[in-house]
Amino acid sequence: MIIFKTVSQLGFFIDKMKASEKKIGFVPTMGALHLGHISLINNSKQQNDITVCSIFVNPTQFNNATDFEKYPVTIETDLDKLEAAGCDAVFLPNAEEVYPKRNATPVYTLGYLETLMEGKFRPGHYQGVCQVVDRLLALVKPANLYLGQKDYQQCMVIKKLIEHKNIDTVIHIEKTVREHDGLAMSSRNARLNDFERKQAVKIFETLSFIKNNLKPGRLESIKGQATAFLSANGFKVDYVEIADAASLEILQQWNGTTSIVALVAAYLNEVRLIDNFVLD
Ligand code: PAF
Repeated sequence: MIIFKTVSQLGFFIDKMKASEKKIGFVPTMGALHLGHISLINNSKQQNDITVCSIFVNPTQFNNATDFEKYPVTIETDLDKLEAAGCDAVFLPNAEEVYPKRNATPVYTLGYLETLMEGKFRPGHYQGVCQVVDRLLALVKPANLYLGQKDYQQCMVIKKLIEHKNIDTVIHIEKTVREHDGLAMSSRNARLNDFERKQAVKIFETLSFIKNNLKPGRLESIKGQATAFLSANGFKVDYVEIADAASLEILQQWNGTTSIVALVAAYLNEVRLIDNFVLD
């Protein structure tokens, strides 16, 4: 596995791969890798000649300084996991490499996607995600990009970025990988203490409750019950929403046929967790 720390080293490698018509698969990450990331690497390996992973805790997508400072960093174990998974190359840049001072900060038109749920509760977050993903895609030039469904809204934002900029990359959204009790794997889970870790499964239970009790008609009551359940279990809830799975338009009622997605974001003390279920 080759590790690149600079844009010029990475660029040289990518040009060489492109010249020999190698198909590149790309898994962008912020590190603290878990089995969810490794399953993205595995999928990329099956579908491409070369798999590149990036590890970069992107400062521009954090709207909360403490969240950025406390984001888990486990580079050595991450590299071991990537090596064991057979990843071919890792891009491990610092902020100056990703954001050279001479480059102006681009602004992305994301429309309503930026005004609801994660966009609403984390102002500027998706601008930061687009800045880094746009830059990484321009450097890695992948045929295929692999993202986890846990960040459902992020996947839609990146889809929009790729469409708008006409980027020649196919996006693959892979199922959320879960712990034995159902908790969605997430780098932030590393920040939970033992008690919080046990409580965290309530997010999965909330989504299961919605899935099992959802009926066509108005949705306020089920969303209210779900929110109350989380609050009673010590969460500070940012949102429980049910949205059209294709457009992410928030629904007040369900016709019983449209494919929908239930999404939750809630804090357990300082740690903010998100998860979703697509309900076909
Ligand atoms: O999902 C993440 O880990 C990050 O938002 C991403 C896509 C790597 C951009 O920093």
